[in-house]
Amino acid sequence: MVYTISFTLPSLTEPSKEMVKSEENSKLRRYLQITEPSPWVRRFAPLVPENGPVLDLACGNARHARLFLTRGHSVVALDRDVEPLDGLAGDADVEIIGADLEDGRPWPLEGRTFAGVVVVNYLYRPLFPHILDAVAEGGVLLYETFARGNEKYRRPRNPDHLLMDGELIDLVKDRFRIVCFEQGLVEKGPLPGVIQRICAVNGGTEPSPI
Ligand SMILES: C[S@@+](CC[C@H](N)C(=O)[O-])C[C@H]1O[C@@H](n2cnc3c(N)ncnc32)[C@H](O)[C@@H]1O
Repeated sequence: MVYTISFTLPSLTEPSKEMVKSEENSKLRRYLQITEPSPWVRRFAPLVPENGPVLDLACGNARHARLFLTRGHSVVALDRDVEPLDGLAGDADVEIIGADLEDGRPWPLEGRTFAGVVVVNYLYRPLFPHILDAVAEGGVLLYETFARGNEKYRRPRNPDHLLMDGELIDLVKDRFRIVCFEQGLVEKGPLPGVIQRICAVNGGTEPSPI
């Protein structure tokens, strides 16, 4: 009688855990490959008071800080990972702040205000009061990120990372003048999905050009 014993040896070509993790990381960090500013931010950038400083919060590769630099603003680029900002270090008009905004430490920009505050594709609700306070009188808030409904299509799916219906309007309406708001499915562009975005001005009564 012949017995056949079969067993499986791990394949030598199988990717290691480290390789899989680094591939996942690079997929997660594909936003770093996007260098074009968001059309929303580009559209409303002219509303940001000339020469005033601009904050790019959770800036990634600082594509929005770079846009405002070309428009003559000084910029603060803040992220927990500032490695992608190496090319900006040494520029007198750029302040780079490496800070984890969710680690329970105090808001790193206490008492500072900006002519423009840009937040794109980042949501951590406990920061909302700080974000509003950071917009100077007459300054502009440009906020754009994924919203509920996006979970049907792709990441992010976690409700903590998705704005609720009209949430940005509710956030600003008592303190800011809303210039423009949009919410819906954006099918084109490097990061398609269900998006919500707002442009709002802190104070003033004059209608802004849209
Ligand atoms: C999807 S990216 C968006 C980057 C940039 N705003 C853009 O639109 O290109 C999210 C960014 O938030 C940053 N981030 C995530 N959690 C953070 C935290 N706890 N503190 C600071 N930055 C954080 C990430 O490092 C990443 O750069």
